[in-house]
Amino acid sequence: MADEEGFLNSCEEARRIAFSFNEPLIVHHYDADGLSSGALVAGAFIKQGKKFRRECIKKLDDEAIERYTKEKETIFVDLGGGNKRVNELKDALIIDHHQTSGVEKPQANPVLHGIDGGDELSAAGTAYCVFRVHPDLAIVGAMGDMQSPLRGMNRWVLERGVESGEVKVEEDLRFYGRYCRPLVQFLAYCDDPYLPGISYREDKATELFNDIGIKIEADGKMRVYADLSVDEKRALISAIARMLINANQLKKAEELIGESCIFPKRPHNEAFEANEFSTMLNACGRHSQPDVGVRVCLGEQSAYDEARELLRLHRRMLREGISYASSHVQDLGAFYFLDGRSRIDEGIIGTVCGMALQQRWTKPIIGISSGDNDTVKISGRAPRSLVNAGLNLGDLMAKSTTSVGGVGGGHRIAAGASIPKDKLNEFLVFSGEYISKR
Ligand code: C5P
Repeated sequence: MADEEGFLNSCEEARRIAFSFNEPLIVHHYDADGLSSGALVAGAFIKQGKKFRRECIKKLDDEAIERYTKEKETIFVDLGGGNKRVNELKDALIIDHHQTSGVEKPQANPVLHGIDGGDELSAAGTAYCVFRVHPDLAIVGAMGDMQSPLRGMNRWVLERGVESGEVKVEEDLRFYGRYCRPLVQFLAYCDDPYLPGISYREDKATELFNDIGIKIEADGKMRVYADLSVDEKRALISAIARMLINANQLKKAEELIGESCIFPKRPHNEAFEANEFSTMLNACGRHSQPDVGVRVCLGEQSAYDEARELLRLHRRMLREGISYASSHVQDLGAFYFLDGRSRIDEGIIGTVCGMALQQRWTKPIIGISSGDNDTVKISGRAPRSLVNAGLNLGDLMAKSTTSVGGVGGGHRIAAGASIPKDKLNEFLVFSGEYISKR
């Protein structure tokens, strides 16, 4: 049973501990939820006029733990709950939403109160419950961790964001990029739903706009969806719905319109809409420029150009990764396997696996990429139906790394690990057996 009151009490206690620290080191994760939660905590300290230092890491491994033993006060954000070795540190506070066991340091974590951290509250949402600032960042974190549509505690956070005027909910076409993507790319690179005959075909997308009489350019500028008039939007949505119905995808047609969040107090750019904001953060973190992402979160105008450049790189690498995956995913029986070593960067292998899974719904997918220091980076993604039936990838990653070495963990639906590269076969055998037993 979810104990929301108990969770919020633990958040209040976490806030008291955080502000009792003199000058803590805030350590946070590098994905979109990690950056938004790290920035949210930093923003809370700034607002309170308290000193802190901040650092972003990819994983909390033994080497990192050794480093933090020298710190007097550490606040872990979007990590820490999965590694018992935090018990060896001096004063430490954990603000996390991953599965956790054996951690004795104070921890604000929805999982400890029966609230699903994979589905119902992001790390940024947890940080919001602790500090009650920047609810927009809490929503961005949830989008980054694929927790849309928002429910449970995420909904509670959303309501507070709407009340403060920092978040607004819109009902509209649920495609990515309504505010920032030029119309042709908006349509052609929509992967959910996959548009038969249009997805990945810019020429066909252009043709469709011509057919329904929508200009893709005005005053020398490419138009975006948000520029369209009500009639134009209606014509586009009808055309897409017709296309899906003709392809027998009635359910997808029904789901075209849905909820999305915008942030009225942010500038009208990539940080205006929750999904676009989270992709921009992913681009920063996963291409080794987390600080640019944190600066964007904290509203620093000068960070946008750098972030936009990283976004371009991110999109190109994702396109290449997906195209590689489309012909290289292997069926290993219990799961699909994507060997992306020297082809797909470790920072995006998880995202590529998630996108590949959309076309192959029946089994989990495990992707690998080359990591640093002779390690292999592993990313796993599972279809929701299997998770509902009891599969827990976070548990698989935690147990397999206990068995073969390395670090791993995460959520039931999305998890990851880093293992020594000579242990890959052992890991794959372990995973096959683990998944088959479920
Ligand atoms: O890196 P990737 O996107 O595949 O990570 C999926 C999830 O697994 C994330 O929530 C991440 O925090 C978690 N993870 C982890 N330990 C790792 C790698 C990933 O807990 N070594």
